[in-house]
Amino acid sequence: MHAAITGWGKCLPPAVLSNRDLSTILDTSDEWIVARTGIRERRISHVPLGELAYVAAMRALACAGLDGGRIELIVFGSCSYDDQVPNMASGIQLRIGAQEAAAYDINTACTSFLYGLSTATALIRTGVVRNALVIGAELISPFMDWGDRDVAVLFGDGAAAVVLEASARAEGLLAEKLGCYGEAREILRVHGMGGRYANRGMLYGITRWQFEGQEIFKRAVQGMSGASAEALARIGARPQDVELVVPHQANLRIIEAVAKRVHVPMERVFVTVQRYGNMSAATVPVALCEALEEGRVRAGALLLMPGFGGGLSFCAHAVRWGERTTALGASSAELPPNERSALELIRDCLARKTRPAPATTEPFA
Ligand code: ACO
Repeated sequence: MHAAITGWGKCLPPAVLSNRDLSTILDTSDEWIVARTGIRERRISHVPLGELAYVAAMRALACAGLDGGRIELIVFGSCSYDDQVPNMASGIQLRIGAQEAAAYDINTACTSFLYGLSTATALIRTGVVRNALVIGAELISPFMDWGDRDVAVLFGDGAAAVVLEASARAEGLLAEKLGCYGEAREILRVHGMGGRYANRGMLYGITRWQFEGQEIFKRAVQGMSGASAEALARIGARPQDVELVVPHQANLRIIEAVAKRVHVPMERVFVTVQRYGNMSAATVPVALCEALEEGRVRAGALLLMPGFGGGLSFCAHAVRWGERTTALGASSAELPPNERSALELIRDCLARKTRPAPATTEPFA
């Protein structure tokens, strides 16, 4: 039994935050950001995470020609929940009318969608469910420290989803390598997100980022390229068999370094980082949707999806695409209209920031 990807859909908030916009609030420049990261702009959401994810989910369901009521499992990959209890997946279950579906959230930071793809595929392969909706969605902007140029230029908001259905054909996720550099977990920590900050007189989400960019860069290249080699080896595939790499997109230089180590030319790597920056868990599924829209995914193609994220988690997924590369239907689901600019939306985030989070990493300190 396999788990074919039969539907896909994305939802990008409309407000665009350009590098030039950022240079009006931070000591940075378009030249620096483009040269060091490849990022030109990113999106800032005017709606909560659940709204972005719902629209992406409805589009993925329409693409698969499946009614929400038939979905048996919802996996919501994210690290920027609207709420931790109740979880995000149950909100999607309610809104799409999947009354019988199991629903859980999964958080491995930027790799959450790919880890979700693994768990959902495994539950289909073992016959626990017959189909699944896997979401990668992220609302980083409310958690961003907009005064910190080291990180504020790197991230954006977005969401995307895929539908998986049981199939006797060898398609969908064929093999993956999952891993984590736990010893390096302190090189990326967002202070202010999590239980250690609860009931301490602070508002949830007042954040400060502990972020060692160069060390993350090195580990990202090492983790993604090693996992890619291992995932391909598990199915006996060679780099030349890979038709398209759809990687996690945090920095163009990281993507180029991984492609070089995996021995796949950049012409066969799909890049979106210039448009959206790093959307964490939403990055890979949004890129997958756009690769399909642009006709870059051929029927029967072997895709490679390497990722890394906080933790530091890393992984690579080898996916065999099925016969269909076009949508069966379209959804009428849309975000509510937005009147405000991205800079105005960020100013709202800044206005909510009234107290700094404590520097300590000790629980209950
Ligand atoms: N604008 C202008 N200058 C800047 C900016 C900025 N936005 N940010 C940093 N600088 C400065 C630094 O202060 C430093 O100045 P100095 O030399 O006077 O000290 C200089 O630029 C060089 O900084 P470096 O950190 O050496 O720059 P580097 O080339 O390493 O690029 C970057 C930094 C882009 C962060 C890179 O290391 C990177 O992409 N790392 C990976 C980070 C990442 O993608 N993390 C995502 C994980 S997300 C997740 O899992 C949730």
